[in-house]
Amino acid sequence: MKTLKTQVAIIGAGPSGLLLGQLLHNAGIETLILERQTPGYVQGRIRAGVLEQGMVDLLRQAGVSQRMDAEGLVHDGFELALNGQLKHIDLKALTGGKTVMIYGQTEVTRDLMAARKAAGAITLYEASNVQPHALKSEQPWLTFDYEGETFRLDCDYIAGCDGFHGVARQTIPADALKIFERVYPFGWLGILADTPPIHDELVYAKHERGFALCSMRSATRSRYYLQVPAEEPIEDWSDQRFWDELKTRLPQDLAAQLVTGPSIEKSIAPLRSFVVEPMQYGRLFLLGDAAHIVPPTGAKGLNLAASDVSTLFNILLKVYREGRVDLLEKYSAICLRRIWKAERFSWWMTSMLHHFPEADGFSQRIAQSELEYFVDSEAGRKTIAENYVGLPCEAIE
Ligand code: APR
Ligand code: PHB
Repeated sequence: MKTLKTQVAIIGAGPSGLLLGQLLHNAGIETLILERQTPGYVQGRIRAGVLEQGMVDLLRQAGVSQRMDAEGLVHDGFELALNGQLKHIDLKALTGGKTVMIYGQTEVTRDLMAARKAAGAITLYEASNVQPHALKSEQPWLTFDYEGETFRLDCDYIAGCDGFHGVARQTIPADALKIFERVYPFGWLGILADTPPIHDELVYAKHERGFALCSMRSATRSRYYLQVPAEEPIEDWSDQRFWDELKTRLPQDLAAQLVTGPSIEKSIAPLRSFVVEPMQYGRLFLLGDAAHIVPPTGAKGLNLAASDVSTLFNILLKVYREGRVDLLEKYSAICLRRIWKAERFSWWMTSMLHHFPEADGFSQRIAQSELEYFVDSEAGRKTIAENYVGLPCEAIE
């Protein structure tokens, strides 16, 4: 078996793995990324599109912000559509100047892949059977298959950035983990279209037929979502049916502005809340979707991945530069404090805005009234805004 060596072995070349790799590389800490899929597959996934200020700053720190700064759209607010009317959430005014950046995860991934390539750092794509070993020892290692051969990779630390279905979390003994989960009885049907967005800000719409979201990727590319039942067959949704249903769920004045066109991507994603505790086992650390999932209603998934990356990066920096190994044991608790707040916000936005078919009339009226209260009160709008732009990250000291 051929043996390789690195300082931090990273499993998964999604946004978590690539961003951690870039920050560590820039700091002179060597990484090697093992990715199961091809670059084309990783690149082709259409996912989120709203970046918190903290993530924008981290991408700038990593030196990969050039295209984002040129092409990303800064949004000062968003709209909630309720009872046929738009209610503005002025993020900037309500948070003392904070905003969000509209820039697709696809583009973030592309920029990170290009930066890693330019830096000459190694990603082994189509690496299979990745298996971490000796996690509780000071010399953990991995085995994997690549181009028909089996390799051993020795390292100091392993970063599990391999998403919800990855191997890292599954390697940890089940009795060492506690899982918290909620599955929602609906999914999001999303389409991407080369049409101008319906509005200059995002619109989150509550409607008795179900939730709808109007988002965008650029001035010429729109992203729309509809709440659909959990097991909905995608074949049942022609483009025409999608556009008709979207119009029904939006306030009339807004629906009249909708420009339709052929979809260039269409998919259904289930909605789930999931957290694993702790996010560390010996020298293995879990980051991003490997450790937690949020329903997309709060636009938090990608941003949480970035805050885990920031936390682990700052800890490893102090470990390598100052010998602060005491910090390693704090990783999970620091991450989880922020994650649970984002889980709460994502659950709340989901609960307020979606139609829960099984909820009784009383529960539906309470949700309606809770949302109206939040939207019509300055304190309520402030609470929504400060969560939406992202709560602060803890300093690593
Ligand atoms: N071996 C190697 N690579 C693996 C393995 C494995 N056993 N299992 C999964 N992977 C790879 C996947 O192919 C994928 O490229 O790990 C990567 C995980 O990427 P993501 O699922 O994108 O997870 P993450 O990087 O944490 O991104 C955070 O935020 O907006 C959300 O869900 C959205 O993907 C987004 C996430
Ligand atoms: C998206 O543009 O894909 C998007 C935006 C906001 C969300 C979720 C998804 O809350």
